Amino acid sequence: MTGLPTIESKPHTPVYKMHKYFARRPWNVFRELIQRHSAAGDIIMDPFMGGGVTVVESLRLKRKVVGIDVNPLAAFITRMEAAPLDTECFQQARKIIVSRLKEEIQSLYATKCPDCGKTAYADWVEWKEAERSINRIKYDCNHCGRSGVKVPLPADATLAKRIENEFERTIQERRLWFPNTEIPPGDKTNSLLNNGITHFHHLYTRRSLLALAILFNEINQADQPMREFLKFTFSSCLKWCSRQSHLRGAIVEGWAMHAYWVYPNSLELNVWNTFERRFDAVARGKKFSNDEIAGFYRAADAFDDLKRDASCLILSRSSSNLPLPENSVDAVVTDPPYGGNVNYGELADYWWIWLCGGKIIEKSEEAVINRTQRKSIREYEEVLTNVFTECFRVLKPGGAFVSTFNSKNAAVVTAFITAAAKAGFAIDGNGISYQAPIKAYTTTFHAMQVGAFVGDFIFTFKKHDHGVSTTTTIGNISDFRNKLQDIVSEGIKNELTESQLREVAYKHLIPYVALHTSTPENCRQATEFFESKMRESSTHFKNQRRAIIEVRRRTYRRSNLKV
Ligand SMILES: C[S@@+](CC[C@H](N)C(=O)[O-])C[C@H]1O[C@@H](n2cnc3c(N)ncnc32)[C@H](O)[C@@H]1O
Ligand SMILES: [Zn+2]
Repeated sequence: MTGLPTIESKPHTPVYKMHKYFARRPWNVFRELIQRHSAAGDIIMDPFMGGGVTVVESLRLKRKVVGIDVNPLAAFITRMEAAPLDTECFQQARKIIVSRLKEEIQSLYATKCPDCGKTAYADWVEWKEAERSINRIKYDCNHCGRSGVKVPLPADATLAKRIENEFERTIQERRLWFPNTEIPPGDKTNSLLNNGITHFHHLYTRRSLLALAILFNEINQADQPMREFLKFTFSSCLKWCSRQSHLRGAIVEGWAMHAYWVYPNSLELNVWNTFERRFDAVARGKKFSNDEIAGFYRAADAFDDLKRDASCLILSRSSSNLPLPENSVDAVVTDPPYGGNVNYGELADYWWIWLCGGKIIEKSEEAVINRTQRKSIREYEEVLTNVFTECFRVLKPGGAFVSTFNSKNAAVVTAFITAAAKAGFAIDGNGISYQAPIKAYTTTFHAMQVGAFVGDFIFTFKKHDHGVSTTTTIGNISDFRNKLQDIVSEGIKNELTESQLREVAYKHLIPYVALHTSTPENCRQATEFFESKMRESSTHFKNQRRAIIEVRRRTYRRSNLKV
């Protein structure tokens, strides 16, 4: 237990690069866990399926799989990842869309080429949000073959203004649909509401919204099953097409934060170019999944179908009540929400309103810590306990319940472990390991925010007849508090950041809590003691963060000048 072996994470394969979902986990870690705890033909279940990693990796390993998520966007994305696609028909559908729409949508981005004077197209337009004026334009010219960044001409502002003025009339005349959905109050949406952004469509420029509406209405004319995959491709564009896109140095970033946010210098991406790029990404992802899983994949409508030749059941509902018989699943491999780290429902509304005729997601059963939804750590622990209790019921005796977890708040980790114990699970001596972050993604915007938590702990619980483990081998509570005190003092002396220090301390705190679930008062004391020590050092961490941010800001400014 003390060694905490590490599994190195690998970057996403093409199947996971088709569509954004928040907090997708490293495929190779999940693959290893599935292999470790099951054999070909077994049934794996993920009650918090998210972006579909457990589902896809199970199918790749010839395991049958049940994936469940309360968020319908998760179910849609996972179904699109797993279901086979006739890639030739898909390319045919693209040709039809290109022939009907390319010229029209590109004309919305016409701009004079500064090199040859002919018509080029903007690939992106950078706006100064405060003045709603154009700052810079990246253009591509088919006439002279040049690309670059130019300062705007008056004609560029005139074109944008004309499209804006004619927007309502064009939408009405052509009977184009787009979601006219009000943004509901929420922990993550209030920042928008406070800034006068009251509808989701305010997150787009009028030009982007018009182009998206034209594209979406065309896609809706396609026949099934192609329409679903085209909608999926369309939906995958949305990460890139709102005013939440921006430049990080010379890199174009789509919406990458776990919060809604319009940057002071926002980026308006050419919707047509984005669609073509996302089409390529989906084509690559589907080739990958066709090659890897199409032969084994058979969709199930109900659990019983898995006993016959079906291999994949995807359900869009809460896992606190599962339509599965008891003792029917060989292993559970999952990744629950980490407290309030990601508000999946609130964030996924941004996509779902397009896919569901403007409706927002029902969030009452989501396991999350969220003030607006009136869910504190208590309600969160309660939902986790209900879901884990269902997992315990449907698992075969002796089956493994494997879950990744982490949080910047030790009390949230304790809630997770407590929920597993209340459900009846026991953890054994080798049941905790550490998974380092995917190196390639530690530079993403979210991960770069100082203090962001990027690695995960992996917990392996078992469904034993004898119930919860009662081992108490790590000494008494006062010795353990002294140990935590030493870890914090040492970490501060060595200038560790808050998240680095948490990582070191958790490697002691987590096993302690996991082995002392029968004495919850000790767990609570240890967790609170640790958090109080961290609070005592909050000024130190704040100053340290400021210094790091300043260095990053300077680097950012330097690289920005090079654009
Ligand atoms: C961390 S994500 C899973 C990420 C996933 N393992 C992946 O790699 O993409 C957690 C998921 O739990 C879902 N969730 C939250 N409460 C739920 C509930 N009561 N029942 C089912 N799913 C729930 C959220 O919608 C979210 O998609
Ligand atoms: Zn040119």
